[in-house]
Amino acid sequence: MSLITLGIESSCDETGIALYKMGTGLLAHALHTQIAMHSEYGGVVPELASRDHVRRVIPLVRQVLQEAGVSLKQIDAIAYTQGPGLGGALLVGASVANALAYALDIPTIGIHHLEGHLLSPLLSDPAPGFPFVALLVSGGHTQLMRVDGIGEYQLLGETLDDAAGEAFDKSAKLLGLGYPGGPALAALAAQGRPDIYKLPRPMLRSGDFDFSFSGLKTAVLTLVKQSNHELQTRADIAYAAQEAIIDVLAHKARAALAHTGLDQLVVAGGVGANKMLRERLSHDIEKRGSRVFYPDLEFCTDNGAMIAFAGALRLTKQRGSKHYRFNVKARWNLQELDYAD
Ligand code: KG4
Ligand code: ZN
Repeated sequence: MSLITLGIESSCDETGIALYKMGTGLLAHALHTQIAMHSEYGGVVPELASRDHVRRVIPLVRQVLQEAGVSLKQIDAIAYTQGPGLGGALLVGASVANALAYALDIPTIGIHHLEGHLLSPLLSDPAPGFPFVALLVSGGHTQLMRVDGIGEYQLLGETLDDAAGEAFDKSAKLLGLGYPGGPALAALAAQGRPDIYKLPRPMLRSGDFDFSFSGLKTAVLTLVKQSNHELQTRADIAYAAQEAIIDVLAHKARAALAHTGLDQLVVAGGVGANKMLRERLSHDIEKRGSRVFYPDLEFCTDNGAMIAFAGALRLTKQRGSKHYRFNVKARWNLQELDYAD
């Protein structure tokens, strides 16, 4: 059956809408990012985020329907991000999804945001096959998972404190860069020189697959305070910060492949857009005969396509729900996924 799934993502500062058709692929997708709005405040303001989602979600749904040449009546199911994320922001997507599904008498399926990220590399060509190891690196999460199939996720390790994206964002802030810090820090680091500063790599040799990034910001702060604040110095510090984060991620990802005996690594989440991380992983992983898969750049950071896609895959295994309600989960553990209604 070639089901058409509408996907709605509104967990943080991006409204993402997409239509995915089983057997055909992505029909259309659209995104509105709130970066410009939040950058004035140096970070995401949850209340503003929710209000902006309210403004954007319906026009974007109309836009993708029009671009795909699909009418509302042709939609078979609606997938939306049920969590984790900002409560108010999640509620916008959840309420639109449920109200629309109720009106159309079609099922909804609440998707775990990280499952969306996790499966997003399967949208690319070539796509990995199950099983694989996934390195999930977003603004809120840093996890290594073993993925054996849809819904079969085993946590190998995760950050004990800050996420990798958070480490990028906080280091960027200390260097006087704007929000979101990841791309800004990477751009500054591109002008930096290697081997000027060396920052700590916490838990590099801890023998497990856990991470700790909260010490990095203190180390960056110390360097910034001692520095002359000139552009070259700041670029050198940015280089060192980026290198420290990437070194730990690459080291642990490689160890996870060795531990599981698997030969495919999937990288997902916003930090997966980082060029130096991609170069380093491709180099390290391919050297040992394994392969690395990334989502297309536009599907690394939050988007609706990954939610429509995850929903479509889920619907091959289970029925969606016609119990229309919107109990979003601001906190939600990926291991506790239970999509039963
Ligand atoms: O997956 P995502 O869009 O949202 C969450 O689910 O958190 O990830 C956002 C994170 C932010 O911390 C952002 O700074 C980081 O991804 N990021 C990057 C890059 N692009 C986005 N970090 C490093 N280099 C990048 N090019
Ligand atoms: Zn995300």
